Amino acid sequence: VRLFVTKYPDYRIVNLDKLTYAGNLANLKDIEQAENYSFERCDICDYEQVLAIFRKYRIDGVIHLAAESHVDRSIKDPFTFARTNVMGTLSLLQAARVCWNGDWAGKLFYHISTDEVYGDLPLDRPDLFFTEETPIHTSSPYSASKASADLLVQAYHRTFGVPVTISRCSNNYGPYHFPEKLIPLMIANVLNDKPLPVYGDGKNVRDWLYVEDHCRAIDLIIHNGRVGEVYNVGGHNEKTNLEVVQLIIAALGKGEIKFVRDRAGHDRRYAIDPTKIHNELGWLPQTKFEDGIQKTIQWYLDNKSWWENIISGEYQKYYERMYGNR
Ligand code: DAU
Repeated sequence: VRLFVTKYPDYRIVNLDKLTYAGNLANLKDIEQAENYSFERCDICDYEQVLAIFRKYRIDGVIHLAAESHVDRSIKDPFTFARTNVMGTLSLLQAARVCWNGDWAGKLFYHISTDEVYGDLPLDRPDLFFTEETPIHTSSPYSASKASADLLVQAYHRTFGVPVTISRCSNNYGPYHFPEKLIPLMIANVLNDKPLPVYGDGKNVRDWLYVEDHCRAIDLIIHNGRVGEVYNVGGHNEKTNLEVVQLIIAALGKGEIKFVRDRAGHDRRYAIDPTKIHNELGWLPQTKFEDGIQKTIQWYLDNKSWWENIISGEYQKYYERMYGNR
């Protein structure tokens, strides 16, 4: 939202958000007064409200990032994931279809998906990567719900002609990352002198994507991507979880790892082949993990009150539920 509001003063950006536990209007404080920005509090599952918003602003493009996104939460509460990620996507698609009503010129429904729809890769085959042709093969209720959403997006394209694109990104990190995810959780725990809970043996591999690199990819895909296509976003920033945690410990000069019970169904390795987006749109990630992690740690040091507010209250109860007897 910040990138589009500042880079495209001629676009009217409508930010539609339900403001669930991870939603936080303070994240956009610096642009909330911008003339080309509006906020609508809305549950994407509420089809009537979504349709009304489409009509009110005469929406001609959608970047659909709204989702329940945390794998651990999906294991505890799969229904919420099916509702938001599947039914919510369906309601947005239907509103786009009804509102645009066959007049597809200049319209686009761009769905932000995840590399988790491809399942995982084995650790002993570093030559294997996810391409856009890799079959969908999900592991968690979260990834199953995201894959279902992808299939609905493709169905609306084929059956009704809605112009769509999909991108599937690897693990994002950077500023404003909710501290339930690995990197911000570990930074916050180090700074609060809490143990660092590494799942299983810590050898699982993730392909880290700095959030601003992802935003650049979104900007390119919405403007220059081919309708009906899928683009993988990520590449060549693979690290084991242990390496990530050790980098954080080294940067902050303290921190104590505690190996805890593994995540059920835990995917071993994600790794993206970015050839398609590179060849077609000229995109490659610009931020090396070693630089991005330093910038991220500095952001959490400079914005302590932002995450301290979050990890008090409700989040505290979540942490006890998730990690209490792990
Ligand atoms: O690949 C893209 C996906 O990345 C997104 O689609 C998901 O929305 C996003 O949550 C993320 O999924 P992961 O499950 O990979 O992210 P998470 O930060 O939860 O975990 C990263 C790795 O760290 C994973 O192997 C589990 C491990 N982990 C995580 C937590 C929270 C730990 O060892 N300890 C922890 O406390």
